[in-house]
Amino acid sequence: MPNANSFSVLFVCLGNICRSPLAEAAFREAAREAGLEVEVDSAGTADYHVGEPPDPRSIAEAQRRGIDITGYRGRQLHAQDFHAFDQILGMDRSNMANIAQVDPGDGKARVAMLLDIVPGQEGREVGDPWYGEADGFSATWAEVDAGARALLAVLLDQTSSPCSNGGAQ
Ligand code: 4NP
Repeated sequence: MPNANSFSVLFVCLGNICRSPLAEAAFREAAREAGLEVEVDSAGTADYHVGEPPDPRSIAEAQRRGIDITGYRGRQLHAQDFHAFDQILGMDRSNMANIAQVDPGDGKARVAMLLDIVPGQEGREVGDPWYGEADGFSATWAEVDAGARALLAVLLDQTSSPCSNGGAQ
């Protein structure tokens, strides 16, 4: 695991307008609170919403947490992302299958499903709220926020561990 302050993570869902923008926002916020400078982005495996802002229900859910995601824009996952990011996190098993199809095989990114890194939630998927009601987005927030905080805890642990090289370059 690289130095936490140079860590880069890409959150991936299908459309990059519902779940992964919220995961990006949750992790940005958690890292900011912890004083960590990290590189964060999100992408979709599909090209349906390239260039579009997040779904209005995701924007509203982030806004309820005081976070503005109106400037986010949808983009598609590319093979180059496996070279650019340390960690790629998918939301569900369908995302994981789609991510594997783009994986060039010689990148540096470690790939996992988001809730697999949350103690006690291994194997659970972040369900797609796209077809549901607006209240589904608060459940989505709770799930992606748990994932974001679990990831942050791993990074902070790496930084403070006497066995790691911590903040050393
Ligand atoms: P997301 O949700 O993958 O969480 O962004 C979806 C957004 C759009 C579509 C599907 C899922 N769509 O079919 O357009």
